[in-house]
Amino acid sequence: MTIQWFPGHMAKAKREVTEKLKLIDIVFELVDARIPISSRNPLIDEIVANKPRIILLNKADMADPDITKQWVAFFEKQNVLALAIDSQTGTGVKQIVTLTKELLRPKFEKMIAKGIKKPRAMRALIIGIPNVGKSTLINRLAGKHIAKTGDIPGVTKAQQWIKVGKELELLDTPGILWPKFEDEEVGLKLATTGAIKDTILNLQDVAVYALKFLATYYPERLKERYSLVEIPEDIVALFDEIGKKRGCLASGGLIDYDKVAELVLRDIRTEKLGRLSFERP
Ligand code: G4P
Repeated sequence: MTIQWFPGHMAKAKREVTEKLKLIDIVFELVDARIPISSRNPLIDEIVANKPRIILLNKADMADPDITKQWVAFFEKQNVLALAIDSQTGTGVKQIVTLTKELLRPKFEKMIAKGIKKPRAMRALIIGIPNVGKSTLINRLAGKHIAKTGDIPGVTKAQQWIKVGKELELLDTPGILWPKFEDEEVGLKLATTGAIKDTILNLQDVAVYALKFLATYYPERLKERYSLVEIPEDIVALFDEIGKKRGCLASGGLIDYDKVAELVLRDIRTEKLGRLSFERP
């Protein structure tokens, strides 16, 4: 699902998130572990301000594990807790509750010191850009299927709390914010990982970006996947090689560059080239 974000949508989305923030103790900021910077909202620090926050590097199952470790360390250096998770299978998800308790302990101890005998449950909100896995995580934490509301800001329903064990409650609708897509490279990374629809950017542009990245950071995997002896420096020659090897031909035996682009992007998104990270700290 991809939204065309217009200024009006953005203002409304920001307002909605700001309203939700009033109800909660902690923010779970969901990002894509493969592109932890490009999959963030550009105003997130300003919007979340001083609320306690955990950055959840979701889809870690698809990301390069060494790079994910570096990202966790990177955020922790900035005094932001970060955790790698896979919402689809649940890996790492239990730790969210443990970390939340640790982070909120001082606040709740204060409540107890003030004489509140049985403090209420900790309350959390999931925030992230579209397609980062918010609904999947909500369902995983809820242990059941919660209907997904439209990704369009303003399409809301009455908010409810989902119980996650005894101590945590989660707003059942996530905060949806926009990515920084006016930056061309951010757009290319979002498209490469499948976070935005293929019709938004030119498919060949996206594949050129992805192949150049792979040639630089994962040359061996590129060679292996497409049986290349060497990686041609010229990008057209690389398209030609892959096209020839994989039979992406148009009439007259010419290489069909759209088909090559589609094939490469499908291979990346279905992990045929292994676990890849497109951003490094
Ligand atoms: P959203 O609410 O933030 O918009 O995202 P949503 O949960 O709908 O997840 C978007 C896609 O990402 C879904 O794929 C979902 O299964 C997948 N996903 C979510 N978390 C993880 C994860 O930790 N690991 C992996 N590998 N995938 C994850 P989909 O059902 O195929 O949807 P679509 O691609 O057809 O949109």
